[in-house]
Amino acid sequence: MSQPKINLSLKKYNTFGLDVVAKEVVFLTELKQLENIHELKNAMFIGGGSNILLTQNINRTVIINQTKGICTVTEDEDHIELAIASGEDWHQLVLHCIENDFGGIENMSLIPGSVGAAPMQNIGAYGKEIKDVLTYVEAVNLDTLSIERFTNEECEFGYRESIFKKAAKGQYFISSIGIRLTKRDHKLNTSYGDIENYLAERCFTYPTVRDISNAVIAIRQSKLPDPAKLGNSGSFFKNPVIEPTHFEKLKENFPEIKSYPTPEGKVKVPAGWLIESLGWKGKRVGNTGSHAKQALVLVNYGEANGQEVYELATAIQKSVQDTYQITLEMEVNVITE
Ligand code: EPU
Repeated sequence: MSQPKINLSLKKYNTFGLDVVAKEVVFLTELKQLENIHELKNAMFIGGGSNILLTQNINRTVIINQTKGICTVTEDEDHIELAIASGEDWHQLVLHCIENDFGGIENMSLIPGSVGAAPMQNIGAYGKEIKDVLTYVEAVNLDTLSIERFTNEECEFGYRESIFKKAAKGQYFISSIGIRLTKRDHKLNTSYGDIENYLAERCFTYPTVRDISNAVIAIRQSKLPDPAKLGNSGSFFKNPVIEPTHFEKLKENFPEIKSYPTPEGKVKVPAGWLIESLGWKGKRVGNTGSHAKQALVLVNYGEANGQEVYELATAIQKSVQDTYQITLEMEVNVITE
């Protein structure tokens, strides 16, 4: 168990590459370390650091989750249930499953971040969300230090939402998750246009989980910047969901507006389209900007500070609000102290 580090830069620990200093940093490799942390409830947990915007130095303890472990809970001929420590890297888990031909998370290849952060915001991509495979979440209650188990239903998943961002916010540290995957007769989801095109171009009639993963990796690499080369936190905003009446009015003035119906009878509008339509895509403002290939992603050109990125995000929100009367909600967690 290593000693806490004092006044450590978090630049390496957030994918935006923002250089803020934390007063005290604990590298968590075993859950029992939590017992020694003062004011645990006030601490800030970082997994892969891929969904945070650090706007200033952090005056409280930062806990960097490095817990590891993937093990089998149950297995039969058709399915396997894995238990995974929350500090594992999500994409490494996906690769482990592809290697073993376990199906269910291949569409979520290359999503940056840790396993523990995945249920927090119900990560999803190309027609799949973690809620589709998740069996449970185990989390440390930060008041009692006891481990509590949440079933899939108890996690109250929604689009980039869970109980851990709402009613249970700040009260738990997710310590492990369970996922149930197929070992044969995989139910592959290839309906997303870009995946269909990738498979058709290569004449894949019977794709494997590996083929889907390769397709997703190729698609993501073609439009999403690699955080190792250009700091970013993936989609900065959520895709807004609006009322059909609001959408119909917008359609009259902006006939080219894009949309998808939601199961609840509302209309989801791609935030990337809204942002691009207002001229932000590829636009650089100081050391930050909206990415040239995916307007929804804000980037750090190297020397940006979090405040600058936040100001750009607010300016984008305002222009979307003024033109379309749509409130863009930030998907990234903005850390203000
Ligand atoms: N679009 C534009 N301009 C852009 C970007 C998008 O017009 O610059 C429009 C296009 O019409 C496109 C549509 O938006 O057809 C959808 O774009 P895309 O397929 O790139 O997906 P997205 O809605 O922008 C969401 C997730 C991504 C996920 C992809 C694929 C959110 C907030 N984002 O993006 O997740 O990878 O779908 O499933 O839901 C993330 O959460 O960090 C993330 C990258």
